[in-house]
Amino acid sequence: MAEATPPTPRSRIFSGMQPSGEAHLGNYLGALRQWVQHQEEHDCFFCIVDQHALTGGVSPDALPARVFDLAVSFLAVGLDPEESVIFVQSDVQEHTELAWLLNAVTPVGDLERMTQYKDKSQRLESIPAGLLNYPILQAADILLYRADRVPVGEDQLQHLELAREIARRWNSRFGEVFPEPRPILSRAGRIMGLDGDAKMSKSLDNTVRILAESDEVHRRVRTAVTDPQRVRRDDPGRPEVCNVYTLHKHFTDPERLPDIAAQCRAGTRGCVDCKAILADSITEHFEPVRERARELAATPGRVREILEAGAERARAEAAETMGRVREAMGLDWRSASP
Ligand code: TRP
Repeated sequence: MAEATPPTPRSRIFSGMQPSGEAHLGNYLGALRQWVQHQEEHDCFFCIVDQHALTGGVSPDALPARVFDLAVSFLAVGLDPEESVIFVQSDVQEHTELAWLLNAVTPVGDLERMTQYKDKSQRLESIPAGLLNYPILQAADILLYRADRVPVGEDQLQHLELAREIARRWNSRFGEVFPEPRPILSRAGRIMGLDGDAKMSKSLDNTVRILAESDEVHRRVRTAVTDPQRVRRDDPGRPEVCNVYTLHKHFTDPERLPDIAAQCRAGTRGCVDCKAILADSITEHFEPVRERARELAATPGRVREILEAGAERARAEAAETMGRVREAMGLDWRSASP
Protein backbone atom coordinates (compact mmCIF):
# COMPACT_ATOMS: atom_id res chain seq x y z
CA MET A 1 0.00 0.00 0.00
CA ALA A 2 1.42 3.35 -0.99
CA GLU A 3 0.47 5.16 2.18
CA ALA A 4 3.60 7.29 2.02
CA THR A 5 2.67 8.95 -1.27
CA PRO A 6 0.95 12.27 -0.76
CA PRO A 7 -2.61 12.47 -2.00
CA THR A 8 -2.82 13.69 -5.59
CA PRO A 9 -4.46 17.06 -6.26
CA ARG A 10 -8.14 17.06 -5.46
CA SER A 11 -8.54 13.59 -4.14
CA ARG A 12 -11.86 12.65 -2.67
CA ILE A 13 -11.18 12.17 1.02
CA PHE A 14 -13.36 10.42 3.57
CA SER A 15 -12.72 9.92 7.23
CA GLY A 16 -14.82 9.14 10.24
CA MET A 17 -14.59 9.49 13.99
CA GLN A 18 -16.64 7.85 16.69
CA PRO A 19 -18.66 10.26 18.81
CA SER A 20 -17.06 9.94 22.20
CA GLY A 21 -17.93 13.55 22.98
CA GLU A 22 -15.48 16.44 22.94
CA ALA A 23 -12.28 15.70 21.10
CA HIS A 24 -9.11 15.06 23.10
CA LEU A 25 -5.42 15.47 22.32
CA GLY A 26 -5.20 12.06 20.65
CA ASN A 27 -8.08 12.85 18.28
CA TYR A 28 -6.48 16.16 17.51
CA LEU A 29 -2.91 15.01 16.88
CA GLY A 30 -3.84 11.75 15.21
CA ALA A 31 -6.65 13.00 13.00
CA LEU A 32 -8.29 16.41 13.25
CA ARG A 33 -5.16 18.49 12.73
CA GLN A 34 -4.45 16.68 9.45
CA TRP A 35 -8.08 16.79 8.38
CA VAL A 36 -8.04 20.57 8.65
CA GLN A 37 -5.04 20.68 6.32
CA HIS A 38 -6.55 18.30 3.77
CA GLN A 39 -9.62 20.41 3.23
CA GLU A 40 -7.77 23.13 1.35
CA GLU A 41 -6.60 20.81 -1.37
CA HIS A 42 -9.15 18.04 -1.51
CA ASP A 43 -12.85 17.28 -1.55
CA CYS A 44 -13.41 16.11 1.97
CA PHE A 45 -16.16 14.23 3.75
CA PHE A 46 -15.86 14.13 7.54
CA CYS A 47 -18.33 11.93 9.32
CA ILE A 48 -19.37 11.41 12.91
CA VAL A 49 -19.94 7.67 12.91
CA ASP A 50 -22.70 7.23 15.46
CA GLN A 51 -23.74 3.85 14.10
CA HIS A 52 -20.27 2.50 14.66
CA ALA A 53 -20.50 3.74 18.24
CA LEU A 54 -23.53 1.50 18.77
CA THR A 55 -21.34 -1.58 18.46
CA GLY A 56 -19.62 -0.45 21.66
CA GLY A 57 -22.90 -0.38 23.51
CA VAL A 58 -23.14 3.39 24.09
CA SER A 59 -26.22 4.44 26.04
CA PRO A 60 -29.07 6.12 24.14
CA ASP A 61 -29.13 8.88 26.75
CA ALA A 62 -25.52 9.76 26.15
CA LEU A 63 -25.27 9.49 22.38
CA PRO A 64 -26.96 12.70 21.17
CA ALA A 65 -24.78 14.95 23.34
CA ARG A 66 -21.67 13.07 22.30
CA VAL A 67 -22.47 13.64 18.66
CA PHE A 68 -23.15 17.32 19.28
CA ASP A 69 -20.00 17.83 21.33
CA LEU A 70 -17.83 16.15 18.73
CA ALA A 71 -19.40 18.35 16.05
CA VAL A 72 -18.45 21.41 18.12
CA SER A 73 -14.89 20.10 18.38
CA PHE A 74 -14.74 19.49 14.62
CA LEU A 75 -15.82 23.03 13.88
CA ALA A 76 -13.76 24.62 16.64
CA VAL A 77 -10.48 23.13 15.37
CA GLY A 78 -11.22 24.52 11.94
CA LEU A 79 -13.11 21.97 9.89
CA ASP A 80 -14.96 24.30 7.59
CA PRO A 81 -18.48 23.49 6.41
CA GLU A 82 -17.94 25.77 3.40
CA GLU A 83 -15.10 23.57 2.23
CA SER A 84 -15.95 20.12 3.53
CA VAL A 85 -18.98 17.96 3.99
CA ILE A 86 -19.39 17.53 7.75
CA PHE A 87 -22.18 15.21 8.78
CA VAL A 88 -23.55 12.45 10.98
CA GLN A 89 -23.55 8.90 9.64
CA SER A 90 -27.09 7.99 10.68
CA ASP A 91 -28.46 10.98 8.74
CA VAL A 92 -27.55 9.17 5.53
CA GLN A 93 -29.41 5.87 5.39
CA GLU A 94 -27.39 4.61 2.46
CA HIS A 95 -24.49 3.76 4.80
CA THR A 96 -26.39 0.82 6.24
CA GLU A 97 -27.90 -0.12 2.91
CA LEU A 98 -24.51 -0.33 1.24
CA ALA A 99 -23.08 -2.16 4.25
CA TRP A 100 -25.70 -4.86 3.77
CA LEU A 101 -24.92 -5.16 0.09
CA LEU A 102 -21.19 -5.41 0.78
CA ASN A 103 -21.90 -8.38 3.04
CA ALA A 104 -22.38 -10.30 -0.20
CA VAL A 105 -18.71 -10.02 -1.13
CA THR A 106 -17.08 -10.25 2.31
CA PRO A 107 -15.91 -13.61 3.66
CA VAL A 108 -16.58 -14.11 7.37
CA GLY A 109 -13.00 -15.36 7.68
CA ASP A 110 -11.70 -11.93 6.71
CA LEU A 111 -13.78 -10.31 9.43
CA GLU A 112 -12.70 -12.81 12.06
CA ARG A 113 -9.09 -12.06 11.26
CA MET A 114 -9.35 -8.35 12.18
CA THR A 115 -7.21 -7.66 15.26
CA GLN A 116 -9.62 -5.05 16.59
CA TYR A 117 -12.41 -7.62 16.45
CA LYS A 118 -10.26 -10.25 18.13
CA ASP A 119 -9.30 -7.86 20.93
CA LYS A 120 -12.79 -6.59 21.56
CA SER A 121 -14.63 -9.88 21.22
CA GLN A 122 -12.24 -11.66 23.56
CA ARG A 123 -13.54 -9.64 26.46
CA LEU A 124 -17.19 -10.43 25.74
CA GLU A 125 -19.30 -13.41 26.60
CA SER A 126 -21.80 -12.76 23.84
CA ILE A 127 -20.43 -11.08 20.72
CA PRO A 128 -22.81 -8.78 18.87
CA ALA A 129 -22.81 -9.44 15.12
CA GLY A 130 -22.25 -5.70 14.71
CA LEU A 131 -18.80 -6.03 16.20
CA LEU A 132 -17.86 -8.58 13.56
CA ASN A 133 -19.45 -6.56 10.78
CA TYR A 134 -18.02 -3.24 11.94
CA PRO A 135 -15.40 -3.12 9.14
CA ILE A 136 -18.10 -3.68 6.50
CA LEU A 137 -19.93 -0.57 7.69
CA GLN A 138 -16.60 1.24 7.65
CA ALA A 139 -15.98 0.11 4.06
CA ALA A 140 -19.48 1.28 3.16
CA ASP A 141 -18.76 4.73 4.68
CA ILE A 142 -15.80 5.16 2.39
CA LEU A 143 -17.11 3.50 -0.78
CA LEU A 144 -20.45 5.29 -0.63
CA TYR A 145 -18.62 8.53 -1.50
CA ARG A 146 -16.23 6.76 -3.89
CA ALA A 147 -13.43 8.23 -1.83
CA ASP A 148 -9.93 7.43 -2.99
CA ARG A 149 -7.98 8.54 0.08
CA VAL A 150 -8.67 7.90 3.75
CA PRO A 151 -6.69 9.57 6.53
CA VAL A 152 -6.35 7.04 9.35
CA GLY A 153 -4.14 6.08 12.24
CA GLU A 154 -2.08 2.90 12.18
CA ASP A 155 -4.71 0.99 14.11
CA GLN A 156 -7.17 1.38 11.21
CA LEU A 157 -4.86 0.22 8.41
CA GLN A 158 -6.15 -3.31 8.61
CA HIS A 159 -9.75 -2.15 8.24
CA LEU A 160 -8.75 -0.05 5.29
CA GLU A 161 -6.96 -2.94 3.62
CA LEU A 162 -10.17 -4.91 3.98
CA ALA A 163 -12.16 -2.03 2.47
CA ARG A 164 -9.83 -2.16 -0.53
CA GLU A 165 -10.39 -5.87 -0.91
CA ILE A 166 -14.13 -5.43 -0.65
CA ALA A 167 -14.01 -2.76 -3.37
CA ARG A 168 -11.86 -4.99 -5.54
CA ARG A 169 -14.14 -8.03 -5.17
CA TRP A 170 -17.29 -6.02 -5.66
CA ASN A 171 -15.89 -4.34 -8.80
CA SER A 172 -14.74 -7.58 -10.33
CA ARG A 173 -18.12 -9.14 -9.81
CA PHE A 174 -20.44 -6.24 -10.59
CA GLY A 175 -18.43 -3.68 -12.61
CA GLU A 176 -16.12 -0.78 -11.86
CA VAL A 177 -17.89 1.56 -9.46
CA PHE A 178 -15.54 1.95 -6.51
CA PRO A 179 -12.02 3.32 -6.49
CA GLU A 180 -9.78 1.33 -4.17
CA PRO A 181 -9.32 3.68 -1.24
CA ARG A 182 -5.77 4.22 -0.09
CA PRO A 183 -4.76 5.33 3.40
CA ILE A 184 -3.08 8.57 4.29
CA LEU A 185 -1.25 7.48 7.38
CA SER A 186 -1.29 10.00 10.19
CA ARG A 187 2.06 11.75 10.44
CA ALA A 188 1.81 11.89 14.21
CA GLY A 189 2.27 8.13 14.55
CA ARG A 190 0.77 6.45 17.55
CA ILE A 191 -0.07 9.01 20.22
CA MET A 192 0.62 7.51 23.61
CA GLY A 193 -1.58 8.45 26.53
CA LEU A 194 -0.43 10.26 29.65
CA ASP A 195 0.03 6.84 31.26
CA GLY A 196 2.81 6.26 28.71
CA ASP A 197 1.73 2.72 27.84
CA ALA A 198 -1.54 2.79 25.91
CA LYS A 199 -2.89 4.71 22.98
CA MET A 200 -4.51 7.96 24.04
CA SER A 201 -8.21 7.47 24.51
CA LYS A 202 -11.07 8.92 26.41
CA SER A 203 -12.18 5.57 27.76
CA LEU A 204 -8.74 4.92 29.26
CA ASP A 205 -8.83 8.36 30.89
CA ASN A 206 -5.25 9.02 29.81
CA THR A 207 -5.74 12.15 27.78
CA VAL A 208 -6.71 15.83 27.93
CA ARG A 209 -9.81 17.41 26.40
CA ILE A 210 -8.80 19.94 23.76
CA LEU A 211 -11.27 22.38 25.31
CA ALA A 212 -9.92 22.03 28.85
CA GLU A 213 -9.06 25.27 30.65
CA SER A 214 -5.57 25.89 31.99
CA ASP A 215 -6.04 24.43 35.49
CA GLU A 216 -7.50 21.20 34.12
CA VAL A 217 -4.70 20.89 31.54
CA HIS A 218 -2.12 21.37 34.29
CA ARG A 219 -3.83 18.88 36.57
CA ARG A 220 -3.97 16.24 33.82
CA VAL A 221 -0.47 16.79 32.43
CA ARG A 222 0.97 16.58 35.95
CA THR A 223 -0.06 12.88 35.97
CA ALA A 224 1.92 12.13 32.81
CA VAL A 225 4.50 9.37 32.98
CA THR A 226 8.02 10.48 31.99
CA ASP A 227 11.30 8.63 31.51
CA PRO A 228 10.94 5.74 34.01
CA GLN A 229 14.70 5.75 34.65
CA ARG A 230 14.51 9.26 36.00
CA VAL A 231 13.63 8.80 39.65
CA ARG A 232 15.06 11.81 41.45
CA ARG A 233 14.62 15.36 40.29
CA ASP A 234 18.26 15.79 39.30
CA ASP A 235 18.69 12.41 37.61
CA PRO A 236 19.60 12.87 33.96
CA GLY A 237 16.60 12.15 31.71
CA ARG A 238 16.21 10.85 28.17
CA PRO A 239 13.93 13.08 26.11
CA GLU A 240 13.95 10.54 23.29
CA VAL A 241 12.02 8.00 25.38
CA CYS A 242 9.89 10.52 27.29
CA ASN A 243 6.28 10.89 26.24
CA VAL A 244 6.14 14.38 27.73
CA TYR A 245 8.95 15.41 25.44
CA THR A 246 7.09 13.92 22.47
CA LEU A 247 4.12 16.08 23.37
CA HIS A 248 6.41 19.12 23.69
CA LYS A 249 7.38 18.51 20.07
CA HIS A 250 3.74 18.86 19.09
CA PHE A 251 2.82 21.87 21.19
CA THR A 252 5.84 23.82 22.39
CA ASP A 253 7.57 26.51 20.31
CA PRO A 254 10.28 24.61 18.36
CA GLU A 255 12.86 27.21 19.38
CA ARG A 256 12.50 26.16 23.00
CA LEU A 257 12.92 22.43 22.36
CA PRO A 258 16.75 22.29 22.42
CA ASP A 259 16.75 23.93 25.84
CA ILE A 260 14.05 21.60 27.16
CA ALA A 261 15.93 18.53 25.91
CA ALA A 262 19.27 19.80 27.24
CA GLN A 263 17.93 20.60 30.72
CA CYS A 264 16.32 17.15 30.85
CA ARG A 265 19.55 15.41 29.86
CA ALA A 266 21.55 17.43 32.37
CA GLY A 267 19.02 16.85 35.13
CA THR A 268 18.79 20.60 35.69
CA ARG A 269 15.04 20.86 35.15
CA GLY A 270 12.76 18.44 36.94
CA CYS A 271 9.84 16.67 35.31
CA VAL A 272 7.31 18.67 37.30
CA ASP A 273 8.56 21.94 35.83
CA CYS A 274 8.90 20.42 32.39
CA LYS A 275 5.27 19.31 32.53
CA ALA A 276 4.15 22.75 33.63
CA ILE A 277 5.76 24.21 30.50
CA LEU A 278 3.98 21.60 28.40
CA ALA A 279 0.64 22.36 30.05
CA ASP A 280 1.11 26.05 29.27
CA SER A 281 1.95 25.25 25.65
CA ILE A 282 -1.15 23.09 25.29
CA THR A 283 -3.40 25.68 26.91
CA GLU A 284 -2.05 28.39 24.65
CA HIS A 285 -2.26 26.25 21.52
CA PHE A 286 -5.98 25.66 22.03
CA GLU A 287 -6.93 29.16 23.15
CA PRO A 288 -8.47 30.09 19.74
CA VAL A 289 -10.15 26.68 19.60
CA ARG A 290 -11.76 27.22 23.02
CA GLU A 291 -12.90 30.63 21.88
CA ARG A 292 -14.62 29.22 18.78
CA ALA A 293 -16.11 26.38 20.82
CA ARG A 294 -17.63 28.88 23.24
CA GLU A 295 -19.26 30.72 20.35
CA LEU A 296 -20.59 27.50 18.87
CA ALA A 297 -21.93 26.21 22.17
CA ALA A 298 -23.79 29.50 22.51
CA THR A 299 -25.45 28.96 19.12
CA PRO A 300 -26.44 25.28 19.08
CA GLY A 301 -28.96 25.95 16.31
CA ARG A 302 -26.10 26.93 14.03
CA VAL A 303 -24.27 23.68 14.74
CA ARG A 304 -27.40 21.68 13.94
CA GLU A 305 -27.88 23.61 10.70
CA ILE A 306 -24.33 22.84 9.65
CA LEU A 307 -24.85 19.11 10.25
CA GLU A 308 -28.19 19.17 8.42
CA ALA A 309 -26.65 20.91 5.43
CA GLY A 310 -23.75 18.46 5.47
CA ALA A 311 -26.13 15.51 5.52
CA GLU A 312 -27.98 16.93 2.55
CA ARG A 313 -24.81 17.18 0.48
CA ALA A 314 -23.76 13.71 1.61
CA ARG A 315 -27.16 12.24 0.70
CA ALA A 316 -26.94 13.62 -2.84
CA GLU A 317 -23.59 11.93 -3.34
CA ALA A 318 -24.76 8.71 -1.68
CA ALA A 319 -27.87 8.55 -3.86
CA GLU A 320 -25.72 8.78 -6.96
CA THR A 321 -23.53 5.86 -5.88
CA MET A 322 -26.43 3.72 -4.75
CA GLY A 323 -28.23 4.18 -8.08
CA ARG A 324 -25.25 2.58 -9.78
CA VAL A 325 -24.84 -0.08 -7.10
CA ARG A 326 -28.48 -1.18 -7.15
CA GLU A 327 -28.49 -1.41 -10.89
CA ALA A 328 -25.21 -3.32 -11.00
CA MET A 329 -26.45 -5.82 -8.41
CA GLY A 330 -29.74 -6.42 -10.19
CA LEU A 331 -31.95 -4.68 -7.64
CA ASP A 332 -33.76 -2.53 -10.21
CA TRP A 333 -36.44 -5.14 -10.89
CA ARG A 334 -38.49 -2.56 -12.82
CA SER A 335 -36.00 -2.82 -15.66
CA ALA A 336 -37.03 -6.44 -16.34
CA SER A 337 -38.56 -6.87 -19.81
CA PRO A 338 -42.02 -8.47 -19.73
N1 TRP B 1 -13.22 2.80 12.78
C1 TRP B 1 -12.72 4.14 12.80
C2 TRP B 1 -12.05 4.39 14.16
O1 TRP B 1 -12.43 3.80 15.14
C3 TRP B 1 -13.81 5.16 12.60
C4 TRP B 1 -14.37 5.07 11.21
C5 TRP B 1 -15.60 4.65 10.85
C6 TRP B 1 -13.70 5.43 10.01
N2 TRP B 1 -15.77 4.74 9.52
C7 TRP B 1 -14.62 5.20 8.97
C8 TRP B 1 -12.41 5.90 9.74
C9 TRP B 1 -14.27 5.41 7.63
C10 TRP B 1 -12.06 6.12 8.40
C11 TRP B 1 -12.99 5.87 7.37
O2 TRP B 1 -11.16 5.22 14.22
